[in-house]
Amino acid sequence: MEETIKTFPQHTCSWLKGKLTLYKNQDFWNVREFHEGGIMAQQSFEARPSDVFVCSAPKTGTVWLKALAFAIITREKYDESTSPLLTTMPHECIPLLEKDLEQIEENHKNSCFPLVATHLPYNSLPESILSSNCKIVYIYRNIKDVIVSHYHFLREANKLPLEDAPFEEAFDEFYEGVSWYGPYWDHILGYWKASLERPEIILFLKYEDMKKDPTGNVKKLAEFIGFPFTYEEEKAGVIENIIKLCSFEKLSNLEVNKSGKHRAEDVNVAENRIYFRKAKDGDWKNYFTDEMIEKIDKLIDEKLGATGLVL
Ligand code: A3P
Repeated sequence: MEETIKTFPQHTCSWLKGKLTLYKNQDFWNVREFHEGGIMAQQSFEARPSDVFVCSAPKTGTVWLKALAFAIITREKYDESTSPLLTTMPHECIPLLEKDLEQIEENHKNSCFPLVATHLPYNSLPESILSSNCKIVYIYRNIKDVIVSHYHFLREANKLPLEDAPFEEAFDEFYEGVSWYGPYWDHILGYWKASLERPEIILFLKYEDMKKDPTGNVKKLAEFIGFPFTYEEEKAGVIENIIKLCSFEKLSNLEVNKSGKHRAEDVNVAENRIYFRKAKDGDWKNYFTDEMIEKIDKLIDEKLGATGLVL
């Protein structure tokens, strides 16, 4: 498959000094390994109806959503002082469909752990997920903050200092639709349309709304994935404890997330700390020129204006 993927349209990111090449297949851009994993999942993955999919485009709050979903479904077994989240990076608590297929199949055989994560666009999800009516939870985020987050993540992952990685070029590339699992607007649009058609199986969450009302959104999430909080749990402060455990302040200060490495055995090894940067809404204001603001606002209006989604 490696050779086939190399025949797809490709783009080498010059602002990353050529350290990253993305390939386009099924209308989205990705690194070769994750295209490969996605295609393998499409060919062989058998979803269980009880599976719950945590879906997102990169840099939209995936780690946060994973941590919350994990804490919700494991709360009978662990509390905020014993949770594996204290010692394990959230990405490693939930397997990724396009990377950890074997582990997911093992989980299917040996446990009832329902969570599976994926960055795949809706139209590229394996057919069995859709035909099994699995629950899907999707998070999206303000595009300007995603662009800045994407820039820093790739810059850090490729070990380039700020002065060697021009933000303007990274912006132009993202604007042209070339981003990890992008175009970002198509990613949102796929899940958005599906959520309108099948609201009972797709929950659409917005990063900024979750910050404004964590309690309401965590309750909604728990209910949607089939693990609702009881009245007693609510009274005992279980929701607040989960929110605190999964907060940026808590997770980003844990030793595992400060000095640990993600996928340590892998060629795509990344330091956990780069998944926890600032988590601030509106950080884009420190990077965007007036011209960039105008361009991106116009683009979003063209691409997503009809949805009524505010990015
Ligand atoms: P910034 O780069 O703006 O700081 P993803 O998890 O999809 O890769 O998204 C990464 C973004 O989520 C980063 O944003 C990161 O700081 C932020 N983030 C990580 N953990 C978070 C948490 N617990 N709560 C809120 N945001 C978080």
